[in-house]
Amino acid sequence: MSTDIITFYKVKEIQNYVDELHRQGKVVGLVPTMGYLHEGHLSLVDNAVELSDVTIVSIFVNPTQFAPDEDFEDYPRDTERDKALLKERGADVVFAPEADEIYPDNFQTYVDVEEITRKLEGEHRPTHFKGVTTIVSILFNSVKPDLAVFGQKDAQQAVVIKRMVSDLKFDIDIILAPIVREEDGLAMSSRNLYLSEKERKDALVLYKSLKKAEDLIKIGEEKTYNIVEEMRSIINSVNSSKLDYIDIVRADNFERVEELQKDHEYYVLIACKIGKTRLIDNLLIKA
Ligand code: PAF
Repeated sequence: MSTDIITFYKVKEIQNYVDELHRQGKVVGLVPTMGYLHEGHLSLVDNAVELSDVTIVSIFVNPTQFAPDEDFEDYPRDTERDKALLKERGADVVFAPEADEIYPDNFQTYVDVEEITRKLEGEHRPTHFKGVTTIVSILFNSVKPDLAVFGQKDAQQAVVIKRMVSDLKFDIDIILAPIVREEDGLAMSSRNLYLSEKERKDALVLYKSLKKAEDLIKIGEEKTYNIVEEMRSIINSVNSSKLDYIDIVRADNFERVEELQKDHEYYVLIACKIGKTRLIDNLLIKA
């Protein structure tokens, strides 16, 4: 596989490059990633390739979105393999800056979306979203895309980024791409790599519990408490699981609800450790 794809490492260089593309009237799409790409990321690339003249993929394991006790150091990295996959998939450019290009000495400006970042993932990872919104702002200012594609797998992240784009008046369309799953239903994630064979099997309880929620809603269950309890018992059926949260929220504003209303859209969300690996998953459901 050839890894021969235009790659920029410096902010100024990619800014100049994109300025020239814009002068030529080209639509520039960005897919922000932390690398170690799987089919989930590549489906975001497919979306960008379809909607843009030039697709740029950023690869940057962003230190500010990891808490000190999280897996920043161990996070899998293989930029050469990523570049080959991207080339094959029709991406045009990679932006792969070093950490000190993004966060030079004396860096002290962060972007913080309030309220929506404080619940669910934010309760369990209190510094996470501030790191995400800061790096995504830096990537937006570096790459200056017309559109950017994010995955529904990180549903709360997508809603937070949409809020930020609206509040800070970024002139960028945010595209949300559906979750890509393994054949047995496990949502694709770079962290699946950490699972042992047994844990990989156990991890299916996340998807099973979401499907249970979907079935219950289909047959008319409206009380979220009842749905969450059924899901919880599925998660607890494997010893390796340790639940962070199950929640059902309105899709538009992430407000938690007690009763589902007909024709409204909801996210059923789950975050759970299987062994030492923290996984998240969700389903978008219409009641
Ligand atoms: O979703 C991710 O992989 C990351 O949070 C992102 C958006 C690339 C920012 O580092």
